[in-house]
Amino acid sequence: MYNLAELQDKVNDFISKDNIGREPFSLYDPINYTLKSGGKRIRPVLTLMSCNLFSEDVENAIKPAIGLEIFHNFTLLHDDIMDHADIRRGNLTVHKKWNENTAILSGDAMFIKAYEYFLDCESPNFRDILKVFNLTALEVCEGQQYDMEFEDRDNVTEQEYLRMIELKTSVLLAAALKIGALLGGAEKNDADLLYEFGINIGLAFQLQDDYLDVYGDTEVFGKQIGGDIVANKKTFMLIKAQELAEGENEIRLKKLLISNDIDREEKIIAVTTIYNSLKIKEIVQKRIQELNDKALDYLNQVSVLDNKKIELKKLAEKLINRIN
Ligand code: IPE
Ligand code: IPE
Ligand code: MG
Ligand code: MG
Ligand code: MG
Repeated sequence: MYNLAELQDKVNDFISKDNIGREPFSLYDPINYTLKSGGKRIRPVLTLMSCNLFSEDVENAIKPAIGLEIFHNFTLLHDDIMDHADIRRGNLTVHKKWNENTAILSGDAMFIKAYEYFLDCESPNFRDILKVFNLTALEVCEGQQYDMEFEDRDNVTEQEYLRMIELKTSVLLAAALKIGALLGGAEKNDADLLYEFGINIGLAFQLQDDYLDVYGDTEVFGKQIGGDIVANKKTFMLIKAQELAEGENEIRLKKLLISNDIDREEKIIAVTTIYNSLKIKEIVQKRIQELNDKALDYLNQVSVLDNKKIELKKLAEKLINRIN
């Protein structure tokens, strides 16, 4: 069995040696720039770990695992345009370093490259694997669409929010696990349980991302803090604040959400102050813990020996305590 660090090294080694480079370099340079800029490599590691539950040999899962990481990085290029984000992994985003059209087209090329990596694996389940990937890719688009539409609504419910983040974020973590399981030769029931484990760690993961967007440290997080507040993103934090705010807080929050002439930093401070007074930090942390516990219930049902699940449990624990 491989541990977390060994699998992360495998992924990073592969990516550092792999150059998607040919003419026109203006199309491929942003791709290499993005893929080699770091990142936690969670999705490919999940694929390899999940495969490793059922098979000692994970080599056949490496290419699809990298394919999933390329797909994830593609979504970031487009997401950063949509979210007007200037910094990612501590570097300028592609649309800022180059321009928006480059970020769109290099992103498109990455999406195609992801399929190429999938084609490089051997599996009797290949069609099923590709079906999971296709459905997931479509669902991510659906989630991203909801995420944008919610910016202009002021009555988004917690349930709607959870569905939105399930689509934009969780399904990819879940698919990474399911695809790894199928490549490792798992029975369908185990692959499905790992999918559900992924859905729940994915929800916790996005809640933590929303939390860090307010309370993180830019240097460590690698992204600019406050972007969600500025864009009126309907995060768990904001939805809870809308639910709980009364009196002065309620009036102030409503005003902040409709004013478009307020200074960026002022808005971030004002909304964060409301979050602080409503103890949103504690509420979100509690919810993250609940989602993680639910995830572990699914993992516990997977029909492999408990000691094989230790690395996945460690990773889940790391994700909910992450600061980047
Ligand atoms: C960022 O994903 C996008 C979200 C779903 C929150 P990660 O936090 O996994 O980004 P990297 O790949 O580690 O930079
Ligand atoms: C990202 O959600 C989801 C996808 C990229 C599909 P966010 O917009 O919160 O991710 P970050 O914070 O920019 O990484
Ligand atoms: Mg976004
Ligand atoms: Mg974003
Ligand atoms: Mg975010």
